[in-house]
Amino acid sequence: MKSKMELMFRPLLFHLLLYCATQTSGVIIQTVPPSNSEGIIETQLDKTVSLVCQPDGSHEADEELLWLRNGAAVRLTEENKMGRSSVCVTPVLYEDNGATFTCRLRKNATAMASVTLNVSYPPQLSGSEEVSVEEQSMLVLLCDIWANPSVSSVSWSLNGSAVDLLAGGFSVTNDGFTSTLTADRVEESLHEGTYQCTAVSPIYGTHSRQFIVTLTEKTLKIPLMPFVAGLVVVFFTALLAFASRWSRIRKWCK
Ligand SMILES: *[C@@H]1O[C@H](CO)[C@@H](O)[C@H](O)[C@H]1NC(C)=O
Ligand SMILES: *[C@@H]1O[C@H](CO)[C@@H](O)[C@H](O)[C@H]1NC(C)=O
Ligand SMILES: *[C@@H]1O[C@H](CO)[C@@H](O)[C@H](O)[C@H]1NC(C)=O
Repeated sequence: MKSKMELMFRPLLFHLLLYCATQTSGVIIQTVPPSNSEGIIETQLDKTVSLVCQPDGSHEADEELLWLRNGAAVRLTEENKMGRSSVCVTPVLYEDNGATFTCRLRKNATAMASVTLNVSYPPQLSGSEEVSVEEQSMLVLLCDIWANPSVSSVSWSLNGSAVDLLAGGFSVTNDGFTSTLTADRVEESLHEGTYQCTAVSPIYGTHSRQFIVTLTEKTLKIPLMPFVAGLVVVFFTALLAFASRWSRIRKWCK
């Protein structure tokens, strides 16, 4: 009987403790849109998030409040400090993803509460770009696939069908931010055409960007380095000539 009572009371006790823990944090933050139980606010690029902080019942109602964004103080006007303080994040930017906003009492750092923004955004892929590349040189195409949540897949096509990595000597790399398609030595028959990179986002659907690649004839490269070196020599010769004349001029003046 006793053990049964314990079993019944344990969850209740746990909930009471949890209740007390959240109640005695000292301040409460109310947000639009509302945060989830972990203090995360789901939002999107260009939206507005508003945060309002107040001391909870355990403190004086007119205490001075502070806001921190990722640990750095947020500048507040005088009227926005005592008893109630609000912060508006508008428009929401990429940099706000993962940003933690903390409100606390100025006099008591343990009286604090935090919320964190989770900013979702699609990959920035659209439009079309013309790329011209010299025969026998390297082709590099870049696609910005950075998104939240991360894209679930990225693919490259040439003239509408999947890029044949082996036949074209292509390689594809993906570091989570950029997907890069490269071909070392381009040939007209293999590499000219319309490329497209396509990224699929679990919430925003398909995004893609086109590259219209044309090859140009190989031109003779003018060696630039000896030319520059020649210029430098001319410059220093002139400087030396001037310097020696200058010392002579100075001597005359004495
Ligand atoms: C600071 O705030 C915490 C949380 O509300 C509270 O438990 C503590 O007693 C306060 N300390 C002082 C010195 O007021
Ligand atoms: C942020 O939001 C995305 C998309 O809604 C979700 O997949 C991800 O788990 C969230 N991250 C956190 C830390 O809540
Ligand atoms: C892609 O299509 C263009 C235009 O039809 C064509 O000139 C080019 O050779 C094609 N590229 C490949 C690799 O088949």
